[in-house]
Amino acid sequence: MLSGKRILLIITGGIAAYKSLDLIRRLRERGATVTPVLTRAAEQFVTPLSVSALAGEKVYRDLFDLTNEAEMGHIQLSRSADLIVVAPSTADLMGKMAGGLADDLASTLLMATDTPVLIAPAMNVRMWQHPATRRNIAQLRSDGIAFVGPNDGDMACGEYGPGRMAEPLEIVAAVETALGSGPLAGRHVLVTSGPTHEPIDPVRYIANRSSGAQGTALARALASLGAEVTFVTGPADVPPPDGVHVVPVQSARDMLEAVLTALPAEAAVFAAAVADWRVATASDRKLKKSKDGLPVLEFAENPDILATVSQLTEGRPALVVGFAAETNDVVENATAKRKRKQCDWIVANDVSPATGIMGGSENAVTLISAGGAEEWPRMSKDDVAQRLAQRIADALAEA
Ligand code: CTP
Repeated sequence: MLSGKRILLIITGGIAAYKSLDLIRRLRERGATVTPVLTRAAEQFVTPLSVSALAGEKVYRDLFDLTNEAEMGHIQLSRSADLIVVAPSTADLMGKMAGGLADDLASTLLMATDTPVLIAPAMNVRMWQHPATRRNIAQLRSDGIAFVGPNDGDMACGEYGPGRMAEPLEIVAAVETALGSGPLAGRHVLVTSGPTHEPIDPVRYIANRSSGAQGTALARALASLGAEVTFVTGPADVPPPDGVHVVPVQSARDMLEAVLTALPAEAAVFAAAVADWRVATASDRKLKKSKDGLPVLEFAENPDILATVSQLTEGRPALVVGFAAETNDVVENATAKRKRKQCDWIVANDVSPATGIMGGSENAVTLISAGGAEEWPRMSKDDVAQRLAQRIADALAEA
């Protein structure tokens, strides 16, 4: 909840500005007061009248509006809020913020403030990926600016990729996190993610096709609900999310050690695709071709991290969640896996190649708990993550 919280919402000029109208409603529903600021360009996308009607507040538009200056100077306006949210934030405004420019009301407020700032960027994919934007992002992060999004998806300009503004409810969750009021505030949650690499020799390894996308989305969703997340990740394709404590590991044994070191935690989610076996006698020198024939690799079983943590007699997290990657009899196999490993929930998915789930952006899961199996419709991995994070928050609130 955001009762009594004051948000200064800066809307800049992008097509995503229409979503900011919904954002205003969502913030107000939760008890926040929203003071809107519109840039000139934003007025091309949403009208001051609709923004003001939804916010139930006056809209601030012009740095040199003397009436406003008499009522409330821009310095005071910039400091009157608990949080400044910029949604959408254009590449232009990010550039101004990173460079310290202040030539209109929005950029001046951002320069004059000592209030925390959260920005929700929205722009074309190429603009998001441009080296100038990358430099500005790095600068803004090091200046302590918090980010939410952008998300991957179809864009109004017809391209696909990162650049879509985060959805209003994701921004609300990020606002709650920034204000330390999310449902998981003060809770430590552990997430494992990605594949593991099991060495054969110093240059070769055995691995699997896990991209780390689902675990990363989950860590991001848990952090956005306010959790303090420890993210133990094997060598994944996707970069780890912001705002979590990242512990990079290589092998299953490294992962187990990192997990046990990170405990205690209130909840632990094991989304990693851990290799079941390692090479029993990994060589510390590169294996050479030899006339004596092909090398024979002997395997040893890796520790089962999920089962180990589920069966801890001391320091077991209140909620332990595993994933089950199956190619057939999904519910039956995953139900048996839940019992065998003794975790509380299993998120089961069908990873047969025809589903396109492994390495893809969507997932279709069944949540298996002591109460039975609950099938979720096919949705993006981000949506699965958000729904699961909310369920974890609900379960911990009841525990
Ligand atoms: N897991 C783990 N440590 C392992 C193997 C798996 O923590 N050594 C976890 C995974 O992170 C996942 C769950 O166990 O949460 C299920 O993984 P899965 O590969 O589906 O199951 P397996 O135990 O490998 O069983 P099987 O290969 O027989 O399906």
